[in-house]
Amino acid sequence: MRLDQYIARVEGLTRNQARKIIKRSQVRVETEVVIDTGHHIDPREATVFIGERQLTYGEHLTLMIHKPAGVVTATRDRSHRTVLDLIASRDYPRKRDLMCVGRLDKDTTGLLLLTTDGGLLQRLTHPRHGVLKRYLARIEGPLAEDAQARFAAGVELRDGTICRPASLEVRGMSEVLVGLHEGRYHQVKRMLAACGVRVTSLHRQSVGGLALGALPRGETRQLTPEEVSALSPPPKSTDMPQ
Ligand code: URA
Repeated sequence: MRLDQYIARVEGLTRNQARKIIKRSQVRVETEVVIDTGHHIDPREATVFIGERQLTYGEHLTLMIHKPAGVVTATRDRSHRTVLDLIASRDYPRKRDLMCVGRLDKDTTGLLLLTTDGGLLQRLTHPRHGVLKRYLARIEGPLAEDAQARFAAGVELRDGTICRPASLEVRGMSEVLVGLHEGRYHQVKRMLAACGVRVTSLHRQSVGGLALGALPRGETRQLTPEEVSALSPPPKSTDMPQ
């Protein structure tokens, strides 16, 4: 594949824009700066950089972001800062094509995925696939003694909705770990409210087998092709990975 075509595809640019970047000596293939826009590379094997940033070849872009509190899970909003506002166009020129995979409340922190891949979005959010999401909740109030059993059987919310079986691990008086296979509105808060406690803070640790790890708050990173394929198809177990 021609280098200008590769840059255009990976970066979501026109061929002319890609050529300008190459001619400005900003592109390296392996260790060599290449200014020949027609230079041929194997897109799956070549290691290509724009400046210090290594590009990843693939039709789609999938990112994880460590969502801080105070931003909304949306790609645009008239009055609030969105997760997309945290992503620099300079780093991800295709950012306008990104869609949020599910939703975290404005005050919830932690792992949120964004992707340009509609198929992946569907597989990760459709209830049929039941992807496991793990949340750490700080709670206030006396937790019902049978809370764990109710989570395992399927909590009945105050409006009568019956949730799918979920896991609940109690970590002392004021902290619990929740594992869910669905994503209803305010679900963790409502399930815990049905068991007598109020959530004072909520943090999503993982989605499927993908954990937030050491990604700093407010930061973003691109998933590797291996991480994307490991996310789908999703795990079926209600057991929480350690
Ligand atoms: N459950 C909630 O209550 N809030 C979230 O943000 C995610 C899950």
